[in-house]
Amino acid sequence: ATESEEKDLVIIGGGVAGYVAAIKAGQEGLKVTCIEKRGTLGGTCLNVGCIPSKALLNNSHLYHQILHDTKNRGIEVGDVKINLEQLMKSKDTAVSGLTKGVEFLFKKNNVEYIKGTASFAGEHEITVNLTEGGEKTVVGKNIIIATGSEATPFPGLEIDEKRIITSTGAIALTKVPESMVVIGGGIIGLEMGSVWSRLGSKVTVVEFLGQIGGPGMDAEVAKAAQKVLKKQGIDFKLSTKVMGGDASGEKVKLQVEAAKGGKEETLDADVVLVAIGRRPYTAGLGLENIGLETDDKGRLVIDSEYRTKIPHIRVIGDCTFGPMLAHKAEEEGVAVVEYIKKGYGHVNYGAIPSVMYTHPEVAWVGQNEQEVKASGVKYKVGNFPFTANSRAKTNLDTEGFVKIIADAETDRILGVHIIGASAGELIAEGTLAIEYGASSEDVGRTSHAHPTLSEAFKEAAMATYGKAIHF
Ligand code: FAD
Ligand code: NAI
Repeated sequence: ATESEEKDLVIIGGGVAGYVAAIKAGQEGLKVTCIEKRGTLGGTCLNVGCIPSKALLNNSHLYHQILHDTKNRGIEVGDVKINLEQLMKSKDTAVSGLTKGVEFLFKKNNVEYIKGTASFAGEHEITVNLTEGGEKTVVGKNIIIATGSEATPFPGLEIDEKRIITSTGAIALTKVPESMVVIGGGIIGLEMGSVWSRLGSKVTVVEFLGQIGGPGMDAEVAKAAQKVLKKQGIDFKLSTKVMGGDASGEKVKLQVEAAKGGKEETLDADVVLVAIGRRPYTAGLGLENIGLETDDKGRLVIDSEYRTKIPHIRVIGDCTFGPMLAHKAEEEGVAVVEYIKKGYGHVNYGAIPSVMYTHPEVAWVGQNEQEVKASGVKYKVGNFPFTANSRAKTNLDTEGFVKIIADAETDRILGVHIIGASAGELIAEGTLAIEYGASSEDVGRTSHAHPTLSEAFKEAAMATYGKAIHF
C-alpha cells in the first residue's frame, strides 16, 4: 500500500454532503481529499435519486398531459407513443451531465478525488481499496463521514431490482409493467408510483398509516394530494400492512391485512416497489476499528458541531440525524467546513423545505397543523385556493391551495403548506419568510407580480391576518 501526504481534510463519500464539503474546503484553501466508491460523484441524489427521478417525473408528466390535457387547450395531437428506451436515455444524459459537472468543480477547487472504498485503519488513517486495484492509505487531520443511506429492505421480500424493486430499480425498468404495487405511500412511493402510473401501469399504493405523504406532510394537504392522485388513476390502501409476499410465480403475490388486524387479501403485481423509508449506510467503514457506534436507527451520533466522540471525525448528510434530503446535506457540507476552518457554522433546521414532485407538487416548510396543535401554541390559518388565482386559471391548472399557519399572538409564520403546480418553486418564498421570522402581514403587504402563482402565497398570508381580496 502507498501512503499519501497528510491532508487537512479527508471526506468519505462523494454524495451531496461530501462533495459540497469538499468544494467548500477547496475554496477555503484546505488540502482536501474526497473518496468515493461508486465510480461517479454526486451520490444517491445525482446518480439514482433526486435527478433521475425528476427527469422521469417531468417527461412522464409531459406525456400524460399530451394524452389527457391538450384538446381543451386547442391543441390537436396525433399518434402519441412512449419510447421507454429514449425516455431512460434522456434521464441518463441529465445524470451524467451533472455528475461530470461535480468532477469539473473538484478540479477547479483543487479537490483530490480518489475512486475507491474507504475504511478506518486508525483515528487519522483511512485505507482505500482502490477501484483500479490496489490499496492506498490516506491520512487526515480532520475526517468527515458522509456515506449516505440505502433503501430499507422489506423482510421476506428479496430485492432483485427487476420484479421486487427499490427506487433504484424503479428508475431503470426496461418495460412498463402492467401492474405495480408500491409498499409505502411516502415520497418515493408517490413520485415513482406517479411515473409508472402515467406511463400506463395500474398502480396500487399500500400504506401502513391512515395518511399518505410520509413524515411531515400536513394532514389536510395529504388528503387533498391523495384525492388528485386517485383521480389520476392511482389506487390507495391506507391503514393496511403487508404481511408477506411470494415472487415464485408469474405474478408477485402480496398478503395484506388491515393495520389493526382483520380483513386479509392477496394483491397480484408484476412489479413490487419497496418504499418504506431509507436507513443510514455505514457498512464496511470499519467503525469498530476506532470504537465509533451507531444508534438504534443506524445513525452516527454527533454533537451540534457534527463531531463524533472523536472530535476530529465529523458526520453529515443522510448517515446522521435530520431529514434525508439533498439540500439539508448541502447546508451541512458548508457548515461543517466552516466549523473546521473558523470554529463556527450554522444550519437552521427549522427552515428546511420538503417537496414532493408529483403533479400537482406538494411542498412545505416549518410546522404542519398537527404539530402546531400538539405544541399548544394558539394559531390561525390562512388558506387560498389556486382556483381563485389568475395565473393558475390561464394555465388551466387550478388544483390545490396555499395554507399558512401563523402564531395567533405574534402573527409570526410557523408553517407554509402548498399543493399546486410549481409548489416546489413557490416554497422558496415561504422558507425565506420563516428564515427571516416574517409575520403573515409582512408577506401580505409585499407586492407580488401579477399574474403569477406567487400571488396565492401573498393572498394566503392576507387571509391569515385579515381577508384575501380574490377569495
Ligand atoms: P449519498 O448521496 O447517499 O452519498 C453517499 C456516498 O458515499 C455514495 O455515493 C456512496 O457510494 C459513498 N460511500 C458510502 N460508503 C463509502 C465508503 N466506505 N467509501 C467510499 N464511498 C462510500 N432529496 C431531495 O432533497 N430532493 C429530492 O428530490 C430527492 N429525491 C430522491 C429520490 C430518490 C429515489 C432517493 C432514493 C432519494 C432522494 N432524495 C431527494 C434524497 C437524497 O438523495 C439524499 O438525501 C442525499 O443523496 C443525501 O446525500 P449524502 O451525501 O448524505 O448521501
Ligand atoms: P418515507 O419515510 O417518506 O415514507 C415511507 C412510508 O412507508 C411512510 O408513509 C410509512 O408509514 C410507510 N411504511 C413504512 N413501513 C411500512 C410497511 N411495512 N407497510 C406499508 N407502509 C409502510 O420514505 P421513502 O418514501 O422510502 O423515502 C425515503 C426518503 O428519501 C424520504 O424520507 C426522503 O427523505 C427521501 N426522498 C426525498 C424526495 C424528495 O425530496 N422529493 C424524493 C424521494 C426520496
